[in-house]
Amino acid sequence: MEKKSIDFSYEVLSHKELDAPDTNLVRRAMEATRRSYAPYSHFCVGAAILLSDGNIVEGANQENVAYPSGTCAERSACFYAHAQYPDASFEKIAIAARGTDGAFVAAPVAPCGACRQALLEYEILAGHPVEVILVGRDTVYRIPSVAALLPFAFTEF
Ligand code: THU
Repeated sequence: MEKKSIDFSYEVLSHKELDAPDTNLVRRAMEATRRSYAPYSHFCVGAAILLSDGNIVEGANQENVAYPSGTCAERSACFYAHAQYPDASFEKIAIAARGTDGAFVAAPVAPCGACRQALLEYEILAGHPVEVILVGRDTVYRIPSVAALLPFAFTEF
């Protein structure tokens, strides 16, 4: 028997420690939460994707009365980004959320499993790691790649 482990490191930073481009991407993700349509959960998530051509594409969760028909912020952003700019690759994504009290969440929120799988597709297409920035009220987590968030991902068959 052999034991193996998977490990990844990530950075925990204050907002002040971010450089100007990351601060801007975080701001765009926070702004995107304002365009969330979440009448059922009242949990507003925003995502902002920086593309290789410099464009930033935002997305927000869009709910539906038939609950599973809605979609998360990350998937609304990544599907829109690739539908709109198919020749650009993903560089980074920032994700922010506001809770039912309307305030930004204290601890960063991480993408759900389905969003990790969807984002991984675009990381593979990019051919390089896509950084994931998770935004909390005071702290930010900077994760080096989507793959780090999805060990043993389903890829080619
Ligand atoms: N949600 C996202 O937008 N992103 C995630 O990664 C997790 C959850 C949304 C889905 C739903 O509209 C609300 O948050 C509550 O689950």
